[in-house]
Amino acid sequence: MPPKSTSNSKLLAWVDEVKTLCQPDSVYWCDGTQDEYDRLAGELVEAGKLIRLNPQKRPNSFLARSDASDVARVEDKTYVCTTDKVDAGPTNNWMDPALMKEKLTGLFQGSMKGRTMYVVPYSMGPIGSPLSHIGVELTDSPYVVLSMKLMTRMGSQVLEVLGDSPDYVPCLHSVGAPLSSGKSDVAWPCNPETKYIVHFPETREIWSYGSGYGGNALLGKKCFALRIASTMARDEGWLAEHMLVLGLESPQGKKLYVSAAFPSACGKTNLAMLIPPDNFKDWKVTTIGDDIAWLKPGKDGQLYAINPEAGYFGVAPGTSAKTNPNALAMLQSNCLFTNVALTADGDVWWEGLGEPPGQLIDWQGSEWTPGCGRKAAHPNSRFTVSATQCPSLDPNWDDPKGVPISAFIFGGRRSNTQPLVLETPDWNKGVYAAASMGSETTAAATGKVGEVRRDPMAMLPFCGYHMGDYFKHWLAVGNSISSPPKIFCVNWFLTDENGRFMWPGFGENMRVLKWIFERVESKAPAVSSPLGLVPEFQDIDWTGLESISSADWDKLMAIDPQLWSLELSRRDDFFKRLADRLPNEFVAIQDELKARLG
Ligand code: OXD
Ligand code: MN
Repeated sequence: MPPKSTSNSKLLAWVDEVKTLCQPDSVYWCDGTQDEYDRLAGELVEAGKLIRLNPQKRPNSFLARSDASDVARVEDKTYVCTTDKVDAGPTNNWMDPALMKEKLTGLFQGSMKGRTMYVVPYSMGPIGSPLSHIGVELTDSPYVVLSMKLMTRMGSQVLEVLGDSPDYVPCLHSVGAPLSSGKSDVAWPCNPETKYIVHFPETREIWSYGSGYGGNALLGKKCFALRIASTMARDEGWLAEHMLVLGLESPQGKKLYVSAAFPSACGKTNLAMLIPPDNFKDWKVTTIGDDIAWLKPGKDGQLYAINPEAGYFGVAPGTSAKTNPNALAMLQSNCLFTNVALTADGDVWWEGLGEPPGQLIDWQGSEWTPGCGRKAAHPNSRFTVSATQCPSLDPNWDDPKGVPISAFIFGGRRSNTQPLVLETPDWNKGVYAAASMGSETTAAATGKVGEVRRDPMAMLPFCGYHMGDYFKHWLAVGNSISSPPKIFCVNWFLTDENGRFMWPGFGENMRVLKWIFERVESKAPAVSSPLGLVPEFQDIDWTGLESISSADWDKLMAIDPQLWSLELSRRDDFFKRLADRLPNEFVAIQDELKARLG
Protein backbone atom coordinates (compact mmCIF):
# COMPACT_ATOMS: atom_id res chain seq x y z
CA MET A 1 0.00 0.00 0.00
CA PRO A 2 1.30 3.49 -0.75
CA PRO A 3 1.66 5.64 2.36
CA LYS A 4 -1.40 7.81 3.07
CA SER A 5 0.64 10.92 2.36
CA THR A 6 1.10 9.89 -1.28
CA SER A 7 -1.51 11.00 -3.72
CA ASN A 8 1.00 11.72 -6.49
CA SER A 9 -1.02 10.58 -9.46
CA LYS A 10 1.94 10.21 -11.83
CA LEU A 11 3.79 8.07 -9.31
CA LEU A 12 0.79 5.93 -8.40
CA ALA A 13 -0.03 5.32 -12.06
CA TRP A 14 3.58 4.37 -12.85
CA VAL A 15 3.82 1.96 -9.91
CA ASP A 16 0.58 0.31 -11.12
CA GLU A 17 1.83 0.12 -14.67
CA VAL A 18 5.10 -1.51 -13.63
CA LYS A 19 3.24 -3.89 -11.31
CA THR A 20 1.09 -5.03 -14.23
CA LEU A 21 4.15 -5.45 -16.44
CA CYS A 22 6.55 -7.15 -14.01
CA GLN A 23 3.92 -9.11 -12.03
CA PRO A 24 5.55 -9.13 -8.57
CA ASP A 25 3.78 -11.10 -5.83
CA SER A 26 3.50 -7.92 -3.77
CA VAL A 27 4.43 -4.24 -3.70
CA TYR A 28 6.13 -2.64 -0.70
CA TRP A 29 6.64 1.12 -0.22
CA CYS A 30 9.88 1.78 1.66
CA ASP A 31 9.73 4.24 4.55
CA GLY A 32 13.51 4.46 4.96
CA THR A 33 13.51 3.79 8.71
CA GLN A 34 16.21 1.92 10.59
CA ASP A 35 13.54 -0.62 11.64
CA GLU A 36 12.81 -1.34 8.03
CA TYR A 37 16.54 -1.76 7.28
CA ASP A 38 17.01 -4.12 10.23
CA ARG A 39 13.97 -6.17 9.29
CA LEU A 40 14.94 -6.55 5.62
CA ALA A 41 18.54 -7.40 6.51
CA GLY A 42 17.28 -9.98 9.02
CA GLU A 43 15.05 -11.56 6.37
CA LEU A 44 17.97 -11.79 3.95
CA VAL A 45 20.12 -13.43 6.63
CA GLU A 46 17.31 -15.95 7.29
CA ALA A 47 17.08 -16.70 3.59
CA GLY A 48 20.85 -17.28 3.32
CA LYS A 49 21.36 -14.24 1.06
CA LEU A 50 23.38 -12.18 3.52
CA ILE A 51 25.84 -13.24 6.19
CA ARG A 52 25.63 -11.38 9.47
CA LEU A 53 29.18 -10.54 10.57
CA ASN A 54 30.33 -11.15 14.12
CA PRO A 55 28.41 -8.52 16.16
CA GLN A 56 31.36 -8.19 18.56
CA LYS A 57 33.71 -7.33 15.70
CA ARG A 58 31.42 -5.58 13.18
CA PRO A 59 28.11 -4.69 14.79
CA ASN A 60 25.11 -4.55 12.47
CA SER A 61 27.21 -5.41 9.42
CA PHE A 62 26.65 -7.89 6.62
CA LEU A 63 28.40 -9.67 3.79
CA ALA A 64 26.79 -10.33 0.41
CA ARG A 65 28.34 -12.62 -2.19
CA SER A 66 27.34 -11.88 -5.73
CA ASP A 67 26.98 -14.28 -8.60
CA ALA A 68 30.40 -14.70 -10.24
CA SER A 69 29.00 -13.12 -13.43
CA ASP A 70 27.75 -9.99 -11.66
CA VAL A 71 30.74 -8.24 -10.12
CA ALA A 72 31.16 -4.93 -11.95
CA ARG A 73 29.49 -2.31 -14.08
CA VAL A 74 28.72 -3.57 -17.57
CA GLU A 75 29.78 -0.75 -19.86
CA ASP A 76 29.16 -2.77 -23.03
CA LYS A 77 25.53 -3.26 -21.91
CA THR A 78 25.02 0.37 -20.90
CA TYR A 79 23.00 2.49 -23.34
CA VAL A 80 22.05 6.11 -23.87
CA CYS A 81 18.88 6.14 -25.98
CA THR A 82 18.33 9.51 -27.65
CA THR A 83 15.98 10.02 -30.60
CA ASP A 84 18.90 11.03 -32.79
CA LYS A 85 21.88 8.69 -32.50
CA VAL A 86 24.37 11.52 -32.91
CA ASP A 87 23.16 13.14 -29.65
CA ALA A 88 24.40 10.14 -27.61
CA GLY A 89 27.81 10.63 -29.22
CA PRO A 90 30.43 8.09 -30.27
CA THR A 91 31.40 7.19 -26.68
CA ASN A 92 28.00 5.75 -25.69
CA ASN A 93 26.16 2.65 -26.86
CA TRP A 94 22.94 3.70 -28.54
CA MET A 95 19.63 2.27 -29.60
CA ASP A 96 16.44 4.00 -30.75
CA PRO A 97 14.38 4.71 -27.59
CA ALA A 98 11.16 3.18 -28.93
CA LEU A 99 12.91 0.01 -30.09
CA MET A 100 14.81 -0.27 -26.82
CA LYS A 101 11.61 0.14 -24.82
CA GLU A 102 9.92 -2.54 -26.90
CA LYS A 103 12.82 -4.91 -26.34
CA LEU A 104 13.02 -4.19 -22.60
CA THR A 105 9.26 -4.39 -22.13
CA GLY A 106 9.55 -7.97 -23.36
CA LEU A 107 12.27 -8.65 -20.80
CA PHE A 108 10.47 -6.94 -17.90
CA GLN A 109 7.24 -8.84 -18.68
CA GLY A 110 6.75 -11.07 -15.63
CA SER A 111 10.36 -10.48 -14.52
CA MET A 112 9.43 -9.95 -10.83
CA LYS A 113 7.23 -13.06 -10.49
CA GLY A 114 7.62 -14.66 -7.09
CA ARG A 115 9.28 -11.52 -5.70
CA THR A 116 8.34 -8.31 -3.90
CA MET A 117 8.58 -5.05 -5.80
CA TYR A 118 9.98 -2.33 -3.54
CA VAL A 119 9.15 1.34 -4.13
CA VAL A 120 12.22 3.33 -3.11
CA PRO A 121 11.78 7.14 -3.02
CA TYR A 122 15.09 8.96 -2.66
CA SER A 123 16.60 12.40 -2.85
CA MET A 124 19.94 13.01 -4.53
CA GLY A 125 21.26 15.86 -2.42
CA PRO A 126 19.97 17.32 0.86
CA ILE A 127 16.21 16.83 1.04
CA GLY A 128 14.48 19.94 -0.23
CA SER A 129 17.67 21.72 -1.38
CA PRO A 130 17.31 23.73 -4.61
CA LEU A 131 20.37 21.81 -5.84
CA SER A 132 18.78 18.39 -5.20
CA HIS A 133 16.60 16.15 -7.35
CA ILE A 134 14.30 13.27 -6.52
CA GLY A 135 14.27 9.75 -7.94
CA VAL A 136 12.04 6.76 -7.32
CA GLU A 137 13.46 3.30 -7.90
CA LEU A 138 11.19 0.29 -8.36
CA THR A 139 13.27 -2.80 -7.69
CA ASP A 140 12.82 -6.49 -6.93
CA SER A 141 16.12 -6.60 -5.01
CA PRO A 142 16.07 -6.13 -1.23
CA TYR A 143 19.90 -5.83 -1.38
CA VAL A 144 19.33 -2.73 -3.53
CA VAL A 145 16.89 -1.37 -0.93
CA LEU A 146 19.47 -1.77 1.85
CA SER A 147 22.15 -0.16 -0.30
CA MET A 148 19.89 2.75 -1.26
CA LYS A 149 19.20 3.37 2.44
CA LEU A 150 22.96 3.68 3.03
CA MET A 151 23.77 5.58 -0.16
CA THR A 152 20.93 8.11 -0.46
CA ARG A 153 18.44 10.10 1.59
CA MET A 154 15.69 7.53 1.20
CA GLY A 155 12.15 7.11 2.50
CA SER A 156 8.82 8.74 3.31
CA GLN A 157 10.19 12.28 3.81
CA VAL A 158 11.12 12.30 0.13
CA LEU A 159 7.53 11.52 -0.87
CA GLU A 160 6.42 14.39 1.35
CA VAL A 161 8.79 16.80 -0.40
CA LEU A 162 7.74 15.46 -3.81
CA GLY A 163 4.05 15.99 -3.03
CA ASP A 164 2.03 15.96 -6.24
CA SER A 165 4.92 17.07 -8.42
CA PRO A 166 5.68 15.00 -11.52
CA ASP A 167 9.30 16.07 -11.19
CA TYR A 168 11.15 12.88 -10.30
CA VAL A 169 13.29 10.44 -12.24
CA PRO A 170 11.57 7.06 -12.58
CA CYS A 171 14.13 4.26 -12.22
CA LEU A 172 12.99 0.73 -13.03
CA HIS A 173 15.17 -2.16 -11.91
CA SER A 174 14.76 -5.91 -12.01
CA VAL A 175 17.36 -8.57 -11.41
CA GLY A 176 15.67 -10.43 -14.26
CA ALA A 177 15.25 -13.71 -12.38
CA PRO A 178 11.54 -14.48 -11.94
CA LEU A 179 10.76 -17.31 -9.53
CA SER A 180 8.33 -19.86 -10.86
CA SER A 181 6.09 -21.21 -8.12
CA GLY A 182 7.75 -23.59 -5.74
CA LYS A 183 11.24 -22.85 -7.14
CA SER A 184 13.72 -21.87 -4.45
CA ASP A 185 15.79 -18.73 -4.88
CA VAL A 186 19.56 -18.43 -5.22
CA ALA A 187 21.69 -16.28 -2.91
CA TRP A 188 22.30 -13.59 -5.56
CA PRO A 189 19.58 -13.57 -8.19
CA CYS A 190 20.55 -11.95 -11.49
CA ASN A 191 20.36 -12.79 -15.15
CA PRO A 192 23.74 -14.20 -16.16
CA GLU A 193 22.91 -14.01 -19.90
CA THR A 194 21.07 -10.73 -20.34
CA LYS A 195 21.85 -7.35 -18.84
CA TYR A 196 20.77 -3.88 -19.99
CA ILE A 197 21.48 -0.61 -18.21
CA VAL A 198 19.50 1.90 -20.19
CA HIS A 199 19.07 5.65 -20.01
CA PHE A 200 16.43 7.72 -21.79
CA PRO A 201 17.78 11.26 -21.25
CA GLU A 202 15.03 13.00 -23.20
CA THR A 203 12.33 11.62 -20.89
CA ARG A 204 14.69 11.35 -17.89
CA GLU A 205 14.04 7.64 -17.27
CA ILE A 206 16.28 4.72 -16.32
CA TRP A 207 15.56 1.03 -17.00
CA SER A 208 18.01 -1.52 -15.65
CA TYR A 209 17.63 -5.25 -16.18
CA GLY A 210 19.55 -8.36 -15.21
CA SER A 211 22.18 -7.18 -12.69
CA GLY A 212 22.06 -6.75 -8.92
CA TYR A 213 25.54 -5.16 -8.72
CA GLY A 214 26.07 -1.62 -7.38
CA GLY A 215 26.69 0.63 -10.35
CA ASN A 216 24.15 -1.27 -12.48
CA ALA A 217 21.45 -1.53 -9.83
CA LEU A 218 21.72 1.37 -7.36
CA LEU A 219 20.20 3.65 -9.94
CA GLY A 220 20.70 6.88 -7.98
CA LYS A 221 24.45 6.65 -8.47
CA LYS A 222 26.00 6.43 -11.93
CA CYS A 223 22.70 6.18 -13.84
CA PHE A 224 20.88 9.16 -12.29
CA ALA A 225 23.52 11.30 -10.57
CA LEU A 226 25.84 11.18 -13.59
CA ARG A 227 24.28 10.03 -16.88
CA ILE A 228 20.78 11.51 -16.52
CA ALA A 229 21.96 14.43 -14.33
CA SER A 230 24.67 15.40 -16.85
CA THR A 231 21.94 15.96 -19.45
CA MET A 232 19.79 17.87 -16.95
CA ALA A 233 22.87 19.94 -16.11
CA ARG A 234 23.54 20.67 -19.81
CA ASP A 235 19.95 21.87 -20.24
CA GLU A 236 19.92 23.93 -17.02
CA GLY A 237 23.44 25.41 -16.90
CA TRP A 238 25.16 23.35 -14.20
CA LEU A 239 27.60 20.41 -13.96
CA ALA A 240 27.11 16.79 -12.79
CA GLU A 241 30.58 15.34 -12.35
CA HIS A 242 32.48 12.20 -11.33
CA MET A 243 34.24 14.11 -8.58
CA LEU A 244 35.05 13.95 -4.90
CA VAL A 245 34.71 17.14 -2.89
CA LEU A 246 36.98 17.92 0.05
CA GLY A 247 37.53 20.80 2.43
CA LEU A 248 41.08 22.08 3.08
CA GLU A 249 41.67 24.20 6.15
CA SER A 250 44.98 25.93 6.83
CA PRO A 251 46.51 26.36 10.30
CA GLN A 252 45.36 30.02 10.08
CA GLY A 253 41.76 28.80 9.82
CA LYS A 254 41.28 29.68 6.13
CA LYS A 255 39.10 27.04 4.48
CA LEU A 256 38.73 26.20 0.78
CA TYR A 257 36.82 23.48 -1.02
CA VAL A 258 38.32 21.50 -3.87
CA SER A 259 36.65 19.07 -6.26
CA ALA A 260 38.67 16.31 -7.93
CA ALA A 261 37.92 13.92 -10.80
CA PHE A 262 39.69 10.58 -11.18
CA PRO A 263 38.61 7.49 -13.09
CA SER A 264 37.09 4.60 -11.12
CA ALA A 265 39.34 2.95 -8.53
CA CYS A 266 42.09 5.62 -8.68
CA GLY A 267 41.81 6.45 -4.97
CA LYS A 268 39.08 9.12 -4.89
CA THR A 269 37.82 7.80 -1.55
CA ASN A 270 41.35 7.84 -0.12
CA LEU A 271 41.95 11.42 -1.26
CA ALA A 272 38.55 12.59 0.01
CA MET A 273 39.39 11.26 3.49
CA LEU A 274 43.11 12.10 3.55
CA ILE A 275 44.81 12.44 6.91
CA PRO A 276 47.69 14.95 6.65
CA PRO A 277 51.15 13.67 7.63
CA ASP A 278 52.54 14.50 11.07
CA ASN A 279 54.18 17.75 10.06
CA PHE A 280 50.89 19.01 8.65
CA LYS A 281 48.82 18.25 11.73
CA ASP A 282 47.53 21.80 11.85
CA TRP A 283 46.00 21.35 8.40
CA LYS A 284 42.56 19.78 8.21
CA VAL A 285 41.06 17.79 5.37
CA THR A 286 37.31 17.20 5.54
CA THR A 287 35.03 15.14 3.33
CA ILE A 288 31.96 16.33 1.45
CA GLY A 289 31.82 13.39 -0.97
CA ASP A 290 33.99 10.70 -2.56
CA ASP A 291 32.48 10.05 -5.99
CA ILE A 292 29.96 12.52 -7.42
CA ALA A 293 29.51 16.29 -7.28
CA TRP A 294 26.70 18.45 -8.57
CA LEU A 295 27.94 22.00 -9.13
CA LYS A 296 25.73 24.99 -9.78
CA PRO A 297 26.70 28.63 -10.31
CA GLY A 298 25.84 30.82 -7.33
CA LYS A 299 24.77 34.47 -7.45
CA ASP A 300 28.29 35.48 -6.34
CA GLY A 301 29.84 33.96 -9.50
CA GLN A 302 31.31 30.92 -7.75
CA LEU A 303 30.40 27.29 -8.37
CA TYR A 304 28.64 25.64 -5.41
CA ALA A 305 28.88 21.87 -4.95
CA ILE A 306 26.74 19.31 -3.20
CA ASN A 307 27.38 15.62 -2.84
CA PRO A 308 24.17 14.12 -4.24
CA GLU A 309 24.93 10.88 -2.40
CA ALA A 310 24.72 10.19 1.33
CA GLY A 311 27.07 7.24 1.55
CA TYR A 312 30.14 5.59 0.08
CA PHE A 313 30.29 2.58 -2.20
CA GLY A 314 34.04 2.12 -2.11
CA VAL A 315 36.47 -0.43 -3.49
CA ALA A 316 37.60 -2.53 -0.50
CA PRO A 317 40.94 -4.02 -1.69
CA GLY A 318 43.76 -1.60 -0.97
CA THR A 319 41.84 0.13 1.83
CA SER A 320 44.16 -0.02 4.83
CA ALA A 321 45.57 1.80 7.82
CA LYS A 322 48.18 3.28 5.47
CA THR A 323 45.96 4.25 2.55
CA ASN A 324 42.81 5.36 4.36
CA PRO A 325 42.60 5.14 8.17
CA ASN A 326 39.37 7.18 8.16
CA ALA A 327 37.70 4.57 5.96
CA LEU A 328 38.78 1.77 8.28
CA ALA A 329 37.28 3.67 11.19
CA MET A 330 33.98 4.24 9.39
CA LEU A 331 33.73 0.56 8.43
CA GLN A 332 33.71 -0.63 12.04
CA SER A 333 29.91 -1.03 12.13
CA ASN A 334 26.66 -0.62 10.16
CA CYS A 335 28.29 -1.67 6.96
CA LEU A 336 27.26 -3.76 3.95
CA PHE A 337 30.19 -5.56 2.31
CA THR A 338 30.01 -7.26 -1.07
CA ASN A 339 32.44 -9.89 -2.38
CA VAL A 340 35.11 -9.49 0.31
CA ALA A 341 36.54 -12.52 2.14
CA LEU A 342 35.17 -13.84 5.44
CA THR A 343 37.42 -14.73 8.39
CA ALA A 344 36.94 -17.72 10.67
CA ASP A 345 35.68 -15.41 13.43
CA GLY A 346 33.04 -13.80 11.26
CA ASP A 347 34.91 -10.67 10.21
CA VAL A 348 35.96 -9.40 6.77
CA TRP A 349 39.31 -9.33 4.98
CA TRP A 350 40.60 -8.10 1.64
CA GLU A 351 43.92 -7.84 -0.16
CA GLY A 352 45.90 -4.90 1.18
CA LEU A 353 44.31 -4.91 4.61
CA GLY A 354 47.36 -6.53 6.21
CA GLU A 355 48.73 -10.03 6.70
CA PRO A 356 46.11 -12.56 5.57
CA PRO A 357 44.81 -14.91 8.24
CA GLY A 358 45.86 -18.57 7.79
CA GLN A 359 42.40 -19.46 6.51
CA LEU A 360 39.56 -17.58 4.92
CA ILE A 361 36.39 -18.11 2.97
CA ASP A 362 36.87 -16.30 -0.32
CA TRP A 363 34.37 -14.02 -2.07
CA GLN A 364 32.76 -16.99 -3.79
CA GLY A 365 32.33 -18.98 -0.58
CA SER A 366 35.25 -21.39 -1.08
CA GLU A 367 38.03 -22.15 1.36
CA TRP A 368 41.11 -20.05 0.85
CA THR A 369 44.65 -20.21 2.23
CA PRO A 370 47.56 -17.82 1.64
CA GLY A 371 49.49 -18.86 -1.43
CA CYS A 372 46.56 -20.76 -3.00
CA GLY A 373 46.92 -18.58 -6.08
CA ARG A 374 43.49 -16.95 -5.97
CA LYS A 375 42.39 -13.56 -4.66
CA ALA A 376 40.42 -13.86 -1.44
CA ALA A 377 38.36 -10.76 -2.14
CA HIS A 378 37.22 -9.84 -5.65
CA PRO A 379 39.36 -6.91 -6.94
CA ASN A 380 36.13 -4.90 -7.29
CA SER A 381 34.69 -5.97 -3.92
CA ARG A 382 33.01 -3.13 -2.09
CA PHE A 383 31.90 -1.58 1.16
CA THR A 384 28.67 0.37 1.42
CA VAL A 385 28.36 2.70 4.36
CA SER A 386 26.49 5.82 5.35
CA ALA A 387 28.41 9.13 5.12
CA THR A 388 27.58 9.92 8.72
CA GLN A 389 30.06 7.23 9.81
CA CYS A 390 32.99 9.06 8.22
CA PRO A 391 35.29 10.61 10.88
CA SER A 392 36.42 13.33 8.47
CA LEU A 393 32.87 14.28 7.39
CA ASP A 394 32.71 18.03 6.72
CA PRO A 395 30.23 19.93 8.93
CA ASN A 396 28.73 21.43 5.73
CA TRP A 397 28.31 18.11 3.89
CA ASP A 398 24.50 18.32 4.13
CA ASP A 399 24.22 22.09 3.65
CA PRO A 400 21.42 22.73 1.13
CA LYS A 401 23.40 25.71 -0.30
CA GLY A 402 26.39 23.53 -1.15
CA VAL A 403 30.00 24.66 -0.70
CA PRO A 404 31.95 27.08 -2.95
CA ILE A 405 34.61 25.36 -5.06
CA SER A 406 37.99 27.10 -5.45
CA ALA A 407 39.87 24.48 -7.48
CA PHE A 408 39.28 21.49 -9.72
CA ILE A 409 41.84 18.71 -9.81
CA PHE A 410 41.96 16.18 -12.65
CA GLY A 411 43.99 13.01 -12.43
CA GLY A 412 44.45 9.76 -14.24
CA ARG A 413 46.48 6.64 -13.64
CA ARG A 414 49.53 7.14 -15.87
CA SER A 415 52.82 5.36 -15.26
CA ASN A 416 54.57 8.02 -17.37
CA THR A 417 53.92 11.13 -19.52
CA GLN A 418 51.78 13.21 -17.13
CA PRO A 419 53.80 15.05 -14.43
CA LEU A 420 52.92 14.95 -10.73
CA VAL A 421 51.20 18.34 -10.66
CA LEU A 422 50.55 21.39 -12.80
CA GLU A 423 48.24 24.36 -12.88
CA THR A 424 46.58 25.14 -16.17
CA PRO A 425 46.91 28.80 -17.23
CA ASP A 426 43.21 29.60 -17.70
CA TRP A 427 39.73 28.09 -17.81
CA ASN A 428 39.73 27.07 -21.49
CA LYS A 429 43.18 25.46 -21.29
CA GLY A 430 42.12 23.74 -18.08
CA VAL A 431 39.01 22.33 -19.73
CA TYR A 432 41.14 21.16 -22.68
CA ALA A 433 43.58 19.43 -20.26
CA ALA A 434 40.70 17.78 -18.37
CA ALA A 435 39.11 16.65 -21.63
CA SER A 436 42.41 15.10 -22.70
CA MET A 437 42.93 12.95 -19.60
CA GLY A 438 43.92 9.36 -20.21
CA SER A 439 44.14 6.57 -17.68
CA GLU A 440 45.25 2.98 -17.32
CA THR A 441 42.11 0.93 -16.66
CA THR A 442 41.20 -0.79 -13.39
CA ALA A 443 38.81 -3.51 -12.29
CA ALA A 444 35.82 -1.22 -11.63
CA ALA A 445 34.70 -0.96 -15.23
CA THR A 446 35.10 -4.34 -16.83
CA GLY A 447 37.32 -6.38 -14.54
CA LYS A 448 40.21 -5.80 -17.02
CA VAL A 449 43.31 -3.93 -15.89
CA GLY A 450 46.17 -2.06 -17.48
CA GLU A 451 44.95 -0.63 -20.82
CA VAL A 452 45.27 3.12 -21.37
CA ARG A 453 42.04 4.72 -22.39
CA ARG A 454 41.02 8.35 -22.88
CA ASP A 455 38.81 9.30 -19.99
CA PRO A 456 37.82 12.96 -20.31
CA MET A 457 37.01 14.45 -16.89
CA ALA A 458 36.83 10.77 -15.71
CA MET A 459 33.37 10.84 -17.34
CA LEU A 460 33.86 8.49 -20.31
CA PRO A 461 31.43 5.85 -18.98
CA PHE A 462 29.16 8.39 -17.29
CA CYS A 463 28.42 11.26 -19.68
CA GLY A 464 24.81 10.99 -20.84
CA TYR A 465 25.31 12.87 -24.12
CA HIS A 466 27.78 13.71 -26.87
CA MET A 467 31.26 14.33 -25.42
CA GLY A 468 31.88 17.21 -27.82
CA ASP A 469 28.77 18.99 -26.54
CA TYR A 470 29.88 18.18 -22.99
CA PHE A 471 33.21 19.95 -23.56
CA LYS A 472 31.37 22.97 -25.01
CA HIS A 473 29.10 23.00 -21.97
CA TRP A 474 32.12 23.00 -19.65
CA LEU A 475 33.66 25.93 -21.55
CA ALA A 476 30.36 27.82 -21.39
CA VAL A 477 29.76 27.27 -17.65
CA GLY A 478 33.20 28.53 -16.62
CA ASN A 479 33.11 31.45 -19.02
CA SER A 480 29.70 32.54 -17.74
CA ILE A 481 30.76 33.01 -14.11
CA SER A 482 33.03 35.61 -12.57
CA SER A 483 35.03 33.28 -10.28
CA PRO A 484 35.49 29.90 -11.94
CA PRO A 485 37.71 27.46 -10.01
CA LYS A 486 41.39 27.22 -11.01
CA ILE A 487 42.11 23.93 -12.80
CA PHE A 488 45.01 21.64 -11.80
CA CYS A 489 46.19 18.26 -13.14
CA VAL A 490 47.86 15.61 -10.98
CA ASN A 491 49.28 12.13 -11.47
CA TRP A 492 50.00 10.06 -8.36
CA PHE A 493 50.83 6.93 -10.38
CA LEU A 494 54.21 7.58 -12.03
CA THR A 495 56.57 4.60 -11.92
CA ASP A 496 60.34 4.30 -12.23
CA GLU A 497 62.32 2.04 -14.54
CA ASN A 498 61.65 -0.88 -12.13
CA GLY A 499 57.91 -0.32 -12.19
CA ARG A 500 57.88 1.08 -8.63
CA PHE A 501 55.68 4.04 -7.73
CA MET A 502 57.84 7.16 -7.47
CA TRP A 503 55.36 9.22 -5.42
CA PRO A 504 54.39 7.95 -1.94
CA GLY A 505 50.80 9.12 -2.34
CA PHE A 506 47.98 8.88 0.24
CA GLY A 507 48.66 11.25 3.18
CA GLU A 508 51.70 12.67 1.38
CA ASN A 509 49.38 14.05 -1.32
CA MET A 510 48.78 16.76 1.29
CA ARG A 511 52.04 18.37 0.10
CA VAL A 512 50.56 18.82 -3.36
CA LEU A 513 47.22 19.97 -1.92
CA LYS A 514 49.05 22.58 0.12
CA TRP A 515 50.72 23.97 -3.00
CA ILE A 516 47.33 24.04 -4.74
CA PHE A 517 45.78 25.80 -1.72
CA GLU A 518 48.52 28.40 -1.79
CA ARG A 519 48.21 28.89 -5.56
CA VAL A 520 44.49 29.58 -5.09
CA GLU A 521 45.44 32.08 -2.40
CA SER A 522 48.13 33.54 -4.72
CA LYS A 523 50.79 32.70 -2.15
CA ALA A 524 52.88 29.91 -3.72
CA PRO A 525 55.41 30.45 -6.51
CA ALA A 526 55.22 28.61 -9.83
CA VAL A 527 57.22 28.61 -13.04
CA SER A 528 56.08 28.19 -16.62
CA SER A 529 56.39 24.88 -18.44
CA PRO A 530 55.06 23.83 -21.85
CA LEU A 531 52.04 22.30 -20.06
CA GLY A 532 51.27 25.08 -17.62
CA LEU A 533 52.48 26.46 -14.29
CA VAL A 534 54.49 24.09 -12.12
CA PRO A 535 56.16 24.18 -8.69
CA GLU A 536 59.91 23.85 -8.37
CA PHE A 537 61.39 21.45 -5.82
CA GLN A 538 61.73 24.17 -3.18
CA ASP A 539 58.11 25.28 -3.65
CA ILE A 540 56.80 22.08 -2.06
CA ASP A 541 56.82 21.71 1.73
CA TRP A 542 59.05 18.66 2.34
CA THR A 543 59.17 18.76 6.14
CA GLY A 544 59.04 15.20 7.45
CA LEU A 545 59.65 13.58 4.04
CA GLU A 546 63.32 13.07 3.28
CA SER A 547 62.93 10.31 0.72
CA ILE A 548 62.31 12.57 -2.29
CA SER A 549 65.45 14.27 -3.60
CA SER A 550 65.58 17.10 -6.06
CA ALA A 551 66.67 14.56 -8.72
CA ASP A 552 63.55 12.47 -7.94
CA TRP A 553 61.51 15.64 -8.24
CA ASP A 554 62.88 16.24 -11.73
CA LYS A 555 61.71 12.76 -12.71
CA LEU A 556 58.27 13.32 -11.16
CA MET A 557 57.91 16.56 -13.08
CA ALA A 558 59.54 15.47 -16.34
CA ILE A 559 57.91 16.38 -19.64
CA ASP A 560 59.38 13.92 -22.15
CA PRO A 561 59.02 15.24 -25.74
CA GLN A 562 58.81 11.74 -27.23
CA LEU A 563 56.11 10.58 -24.85
CA TRP A 564 54.27 13.84 -25.43
CA SER A 565 54.40 13.43 -29.17
CA LEU A 566 52.68 10.02 -28.71
CA GLU A 567 50.27 11.53 -26.20
CA LEU A 568 49.23 14.29 -28.59
CA SER A 569 48.66 11.86 -31.43
CA ARG A 570 46.46 9.73 -29.11
CA ARG A 571 44.52 12.87 -28.17
CA ASP A 572 44.10 13.62 -31.86
CA ASP A 573 42.71 10.13 -32.46
CA PHE A 574 40.18 10.58 -29.68
CA PHE A 575 39.20 14.12 -30.62
CA LYS A 576 38.73 13.08 -34.28
CA ARG A 577 35.97 10.72 -33.13
CA LEU A 578 34.05 13.75 -31.84
CA ALA A 579 34.26 15.29 -35.31
CA ASP A 580 32.38 18.55 -35.83
CA ARG A 581 31.16 18.74 -32.23
CA LEU A 582 34.69 19.21 -30.85
CA PRO A 583 35.02 22.81 -29.59
CA ASN A 584 37.10 24.94 -31.97
CA GLU A 585 38.92 26.28 -28.93
CA PHE A 586 40.53 22.86 -28.44
CA VAL A 587 42.08 22.83 -31.90
CA ALA A 588 43.81 26.16 -31.27
CA ILE A 589 44.93 25.14 -27.77
CA GLN A 590 46.34 21.83 -29.00
CA ASP A 591 48.18 23.50 -31.90
CA GLU A 592 49.77 25.94 -29.47
CA LEU A 593 50.72 23.07 -27.16
CA LYS A 594 52.33 21.18 -30.03
CA ALA A 595 54.37 24.24 -30.87
CA ARG A 596 55.45 24.70 -27.25
CA LEU A 597 56.47 21.05 -26.93
CA GLY A 598 58.52 21.47 -30.08
C1 OXD B 1 32.39 3.61 -8.83
C2 OXD B 1 32.96 3.61 -10.19
O1 OXD B 1 31.85 2.59 -8.40
O2 OXD B 1 33.43 4.67 -10.62
O3 OXD B 1 32.44 4.67 -8.20
O4 OXD B 1 32.96 2.58 -10.85
MN1 MN C 1 33.07 6.34 -9.36
